[in-house]
Amino acid sequence: MRSLLLDRIEMLVTWDDGLPVRRDAALLVEDGVVAWSGPAAEAPAADDRLDVAGGCVVPGFVDSHTHLVFGGDRTAEYEARLAGKPYAAGGIRTTVAATRAASTNELRRRARRLAMEALRSGTTTLEIKSGYGLTVEDELRCLQVAAELTPHVTFLGAHVPPDVAVGYIELVTGPMLEAAVGVATGIDAFCEEGAFDVDECREVLGAGAARGLDVHVHANQLQPGGGVQLAAELGALSADHCTHLTDADVAALRESGVVAVLVPAAEFGAGSAYAPARRLLDAGVTVALATDCNPGTSFTTSMPFVIALACRQQELRPMEALRAATLGGAAALGIDAGHLRVGAPADLVVLDAPSPTWFAYRPGVDLVRAVLRGGQVVR
Ligand code: NIG
Ligand code: FE
Repeated sequence: MRSLLLDRIEMLVTWDDGLPVRRDAALLVEDGVVAWSGPAAEAPAADDRLDVAGGCVVPGFVDSHTHLVFGGDRTAEYEARLAGKPYAAGGIRTTVAATRAASTNELRRRARRLAMEALRSGTTTLEIKSGYGLTVEDELRCLQVAAELTPHVTFLGAHVPPDVAVGYIELVTGPMLEAAVGVATGIDAFCEEGAFDVDECREVLGAGAARGLDVHVHANQLQPGGGVQLAAELGALSADHCTHLTDADVAALRESGVVAVLVPAAEFGAGSAYAPARRLLDAGVTVALATDCNPGTSFTTSMPFVIALACRQQELRPMEALRAATLGGAAALGIDAGHLRVGAPADLVVLDAPSPTWFAYRPGVDLVRAVLRGGQVVR
């Protein structure tokens, strides 16, 4: 493969241990990985050159929480919310009906479009959950579509109880889990009033963990509850949402090392309070930022938008938000990604901006000039 030198970089973010951020830099890509980075004046020769022209280069985003596979949309519900009707978990069933009615090809076409949209906005690593099928067959269809788009697939059979919910936990922990194992890498459950209680989630997540799946929990989204404590108890990789936290929840996250995946675009969409990101970071909790892309609360694939919200609404400094959107996401998935250290895959974003502050300073403006994944220019 031809080597590529990115030069005239005003700000290069590698998250290198020694020098995480470098000014006036260059970066060399060889065989799909970062082969060298350093001062622009010392840049080695390469076959091809990409002139960053005073912009910045950052690691590709790691979006660790999405629900990309679904049928239909919920415009009417969103309009009602804009008119003051609060968000409730029950709306999920509207999407379940539309997902079941959609052909697998239709689900595939739509999910692929969203995954491409995410990639074009700089997301080079993506997690996708099921959760809008809720039968063995429909969950499996959704998981298989997700697996065509990413290696990070999460089984969310415990999203909401379906209309006939008798015996549903047995179904999720039995035949549905059996079908999911082999396709999914993780398991998740929505621990919330109107969804599943702590004991039900413990049963579902424990069954998944016993089959080798990574554990994630939709926790403390709509009100305080036991989701975060359950994530800590189970040694989950992540507790997601974390909108309503007590001091004991924050302490549990810190002590357990569970990553808090924050999804401010869902809070924007639901018109709710924002998760206490500043409090979590100050307490020493590992924080990730994700889109939560789904048709109910957060119909966006844009990590730049999420970073802007985290800076403006959650008191994160721009570099903290960028770290949460890259390294934080990787921690939530338990993978080595989200950085540009020598030897890492060249998954990166070239920005028409002198620093990541511009995500918040120029909100809603497309600042992405190029995206590389595995060293290939994909945009
Ligand atoms: O993460 N909380 C549960 N699931 C989604 C919402 C799903 C929906 O409303 O369709 C979320 O916000
Ligand atoms: Fe979610």
